[in-house]
Order: sequence, then C-alpha cells, then structure tokens
Amino acid sequence: MAWGLWRIPESTVQHLGPVRGRSILELGCGAARWSIALRGKGARPIGLDLSFAQLAHARREIRKARSEVPLVRGSAEAIPFESGVFDIVFCDWGAMTFADPRRTVPECARVLRPDGLLVFATASPVRYLAYHPAKDRQSRRLRRTYFGMHRIEWEGSVEFQVPYGDWVDLFSRSGFTIERLVETAAPVGAKTPYLSAADSAWGARWPMECIWRVRKERTGRSRGARRLARQV
Ligand SMILES: C[S@@+](CC[C@H](N)C(=O)[O-])C[C@H]1O[C@@H](n2cnc3c(N)ncnc32)[C@H](O)[C@@H]1O
Repeated sequence: MAWGLWRIPESTVQHLGPVRGRSILELGCGAARWSIALRGKGARPIGLDLSFAQLAHARREIRKARSEVPLVRGSAEAIPFESGVFDIVFCDWGAMTFADPRRTVPECARVLRPDGLLVFATASPVRYLAYHPAKDRQSRRLRRTYFGMHRIEWEGSVEFQVPYGDWVDLFSRSGFTIERLVETAAPVGAKTPYLSAADSAWGARWPMECIWRVRKERTGRSRGARRLARQV
C-alpha cells in the first residue's frame, strides 16, 4: 500500500492506523488495488466507484488476486450507505479529487462512526495555482486565482480543489478534527509514470499533493454536517 504520485508507503505515512477488522470504504476505488491489499491485512473493505468500467476493472483485479472485496456503484457526493457504518473512509487520488468536497466531506462525516477516520491523497491547491495550461506543465509563477478556487477544468476532465482555509472550514463544520496534513515532496531523482521529469523536479520544490488525515469527533456534529450538506 503506497500513497500518491511518489508511491510513498503507508508504513512511512502511517495515516490509516491499524486496519485489521476495520470496516473501510474506498471512495472512487478505481482498480481497487488498495482494497485488495487491505483485505489481505484482515480489514473489511468495500470499493465504491461511479464508473461501471472501473468497477469491471476492479472486479477482474479482485478475481486475479483471489480476494473478496464487495464493490458498489455510487457517487461520493451521495454515498449509498447508512449513517455511522464505517471506521475508515479513504482514497488515493480517488473521488475526493473528482467530486465536490462541499458534498463529499459532509457525506464522509455522515457514514463514519464517531472517532472514525477520513484519509485521502489529492492534488495540492499549489499545484493548480502554478499550472501553465498552454505549456501543459508546472511553472514558477502563480497563474490562477486562489480565492474562490473550486471546480477546475484540468487536462480534459473536471477536478475539485479549494483553498486551505476552506478545507479547514469544511472539516470543522462537518465535525472533523484535523490530525495531520502531509505535503509530499518528490524524492530526489523520483520518476513517476504520472509526471514528466520537469514536473517531478517541480514537485521536489513545491507541494504537488496533499494527504489529509481527519477524525470524526466522538460526540459528532452531524447536525452541522447536515446543515452544510443542505447549503450546497
Ligand atoms: C484516479 S482513479 C482511481 C484511483 C485508485 N486509487 C486506483 O489506484 O485505481 C479515480 C476514480 O474515482 C472515480 N470517481 C470519480 N468521481 C467519482 C464520484 N463522484 N464518486 C465515486 N467515484 C468517483 C473514478 O471513476 C475513478 O475510478
């Protein structure tokens, strides 16, 4: 199990904590590789994805691994599960990148048990600020307006990102306490199939991605989360 662009091992990041016996939702599971690995560690993962094609891919990978991971089609913006049923909700560049955090964060709060964890890796706001669309690469200048950042047309698809202060607001209004934010730096000489060498070098100097770990408060503030969900 390894996070993000630089495949930093979970054993180094240590965001998920103990997983044996835990009920876990992978939000935007894609090929479900994380869920397969988690199942191998004694967790009880479920993979959720919006795309039939990705779910078919996941099903093949699960069969190949001789694993057993239930898969569900649905959107992270309206998670098709009852409230308070998961110990951990997580994704690695999954639905938290491609769905609206104003909807996903309250939804994650709703389906987590009190004290449950939301953990996800996604792009950093800084990455979008410095992206040069005409040259299709990262630059050393700020090219996008930071305030009001939300829905972003990015390389032919739509991604979501908000300023750091908005993340903090979203988490606290949904009843989460922020425990850790890891801004990954590209290891020296890092190569990744996702980035050019120049963009990898950029990622050694500025934060390309964020890995958040936030915990649902024991008392829960589900009324706040519901109010927030109604506002969007
Ligand atoms: C980059 S991919 C998957 C990454 C995954 N960690 C992997 O290694 O395969 C992102 C996934 O999020 C899914 N996705 C996008 N928007 C979603 C949404 N609103 N709800 C659920 N899944 C979504 C996509 O279908 C895709 O499978």
